[in-house]
Amino acid sequence: MRLSLRFVVPLLAILAAIAYAVLPLVDGLALRWFVRDLNVRSQLIANALEQPLTESLARDSRKHTTAYLTRIITDERLYALALCLRDGSSVVATNTFPESIRCDDLERFDLPLQRLIDTPQGLLHVAVEPLKRDGLQIGDLVLVHDMSFVQRRSEETRRYLYAFFVALGLVISLITVVIAQLSWRGWVQGTRALLRGEGLVRPSERGALPELRMIERDLRELMRDLRTEYRSRDPAQTDWSPDTLRDILRRDLRGEDIIAVSNREPYIHVRKNDEIEVLRPASGLVTALEPIMRACSGTWIAHGSGDADREVVDTNDRVAVPPEHAAYRIRRIWLTADEEQGYYFGFANEGLWPLCHIAHVRPAFRAGDWRAYVEVNQRFAQAVIDESRDASPIVLVQDYHCALVPRMIREQLPDATIITFWHIPWPNPESFAICPWRAELLDGLLGSSILGFHTRFHCNNFVDTVDRLLEARVDRETLDVTYGGLCTAVKRYPISIEWPPPPETTRKTVEACRSDIRRRYRLPAAQKVGIGVDRLDYTKGILERFMAVERLLELHPEWIGKFSLIQIAAPSRSSIREYQSFEVEVRALASRINARFAPGGVPPIVLRIAHHGPAEVYEHYRGADLCFVSSLHDGMNLVAKEFIACRDDDQGVLILSQFTGAARELPEALIVNPYDNEQCAAALHLALTMPPKEQQLRMRLMRGLVQQFNVFRWAGRMLLDAAGMRSRVYLGDKPGLPPKRAVPRARV
Ligand code: F6P
Repeated sequence: MRLSLRFVVPLLAILAAIAYAVLPLVDGLALRWFVRDLNVRSQLIANALEQPLTESLARDSRKHTTAYLTRIITDERLYALALCLRDGSSVVATNTFPESIRCDDLERFDLPLQRLIDTPQGLLHVAVEPLKRDGLQIGDLVLVHDMSFVQRRSEETRRYLYAFFVALGLVISLITVVIAQLSWRGWVQGTRALLRGEGLVRPSERGALPELRMIERDLRELMRDLRTEYRSRDPAQTDWSPDTLRDILRRDLRGEDIIAVSNREPYIHVRKNDEIEVLRPASGLVTALEPIMRACSGTWIAHGSGDADREVVDTNDRVAVPPEHAAYRIRRIWLTADEEQGYYFGFANEGLWPLCHIAHVRPAFRAGDWRAYVEVNQRFAQAVIDESRDASPIVLVQDYHCALVPRMIREQLPDATIITFWHIPWPNPESFAICPWRAELLDGLLGSSILGFHTRFHCNNFVDTVDRLLEARVDRETLDVTYGGLCTAVKRYPISIEWPPPPETTRKTVEACRSDIRRRYRLPAAQKVGIGVDRLDYTKGILERFMAVERLLELHPEWIGKFSLIQIAAPSRSSIREYQSFEVEVRALASRINARFAPGGVPPIVLRIAHHGPAEVYEHYRGADLCFVSSLHDGMNLVAKEFIACRDDDQGVLILSQFTGAARELPEALIVNPYDNEQCAAALHLALTMPPKEQQLRMRLMRGLVQQFNVFRWAGRMLLDAAGMRSRVYLGDKPGLPPKRAVPRARV
């Protein structure tokens, strides 16, 4: 509005000035037109009067002539008439004839513009026309017109002109205001449309306006940049993808390299029949971290556990992966058999693994295993230091095999940003306290800048443990732990899988997967199939799963010969006694159930203990009617999410243990207590009889969640938090700037 007034007021002033300058011109012009009119009119009157006047004069009737002239001037504009005779016989005139006009001085009215005279009676026009008889001029007829009507008209014209200019000013002002308002609204709408991602020009106009198209493109790019910037700081708004991660690394972490550390390597080179093969291990950690490393590049430090691993590395023990399209490198750490026994099988998997999982397997802690654990952790930490290109690398430490690594790195690289993620549950303080090296483990982990868990429950367990076992300060609201003067942020980052899923997951049609799977296991074409995919681990609830199938067949014998559970189990940690006996138990239970319900017929349990590559696993997910995840305790469980990702047909039912982290995110699954045999059997029956429409509704909701909360979000949120910490430390170090927090934060 203010903008409009700024335009309207000067406009009105200009119009007033124009009116002031134009009016005299118009007056002069109008006067000239009237004079010309009166000249013509006088001539006409003179012509018309010539004959009657000459006749009247011939009769020498002056009186009669005067009366005649007087009668003629009753015309409203003709003011006076007079006859100036050449014979000198004086003048015949109406009594209105002005005295200032004399017969001997008529030449002064010869020129048209000199015919106006100003008299006490007003402005008069004087025209002198010759009066002729028989072709001889006998005198002059003087016609005097009253010009007061010109003045009246001129005033009237002025009034009209003033009114015209005022109206013009108002109309222009009005149009200006309306256009200004419309264009403001249009601009606002246009901007909003751009923010919504709509174009400036309609598709139909695009061909006609190439210049606008270029502007549109530039604006789109600008808006996209702004949106990306805004969204990358608001995890809820972001569409998480490899690009988002790269963007965070480039912009928020100034292009730093990522160094990941874990026990398990993502690609294992093994010898098979004189050939080197590449295996993808069955590991939730690898499933999650591998796409992150592909997106971010950098170095992944891990134990080289394959029998051909040494053959493919360079002199620095590095190998570029993935083999088909290198995106990052593995730096392999070599362990002796004793080291692997003490550190991996012993302390990590006989001690910490059962300690953290409530699976009723007693943890075993041995001093020799602990020493190996410390030593191997030192090797991993040293590898990080060797691989760092500067003093403040970003290090992702993974899992319970590397609990001491954060502190060991921190001691040598105080400015490193160390993000540690604990992939398994964290137990309550009482359970954790049975570990003889509990304080050392906590101290090691508190070397991290950020320590992540899958669930809030595990975060709480961790800070409770610290509170109980260490001289540390715990902020219950933020879950920041301050220990030894430095601060570690304890945070929840639920892990996930990559989305969109790799194309191999859905390359083969669901129909082909269904028929191939049934053919491979010699099952009838119409057989209902459930799938279980796990490492052969006692925490996965495989026995409970089989027992649920047995109970289903007891309660619903109609499923005998009609339903089979295919269990594919990757051999795992098989040198540990617990795992060996577990395998024996699993095989025995499967045999017993099969013998009971299908002597020589269609087996209700198909058990395949072998390593299965990703393509085979995806085929099983797609060919099944249901997937049964019955973990007794599990940090997250990515099998559940992989099954969902593979089901782009929106079919298939997920039965999910309530003791997995995934159960907190996927309420549309059939959530069960794996220890409750009856409930699990009922869930199996429900899944097998669930109408396709209901399957579709549930699957769509779950796919939506996995799509949004994918693994790029998991890593992206950690990296964003790390970037925020680095900035705060940088600001806190600036002289004159108060520290952001009262408590000094761990140098990151
Ligand atoms: O879910 C992740 C996880 O259980 C890790 O904790 C573990 O490292 C991995 O899967 C598999 O174990 P391993 O490395 O011993 O084969």
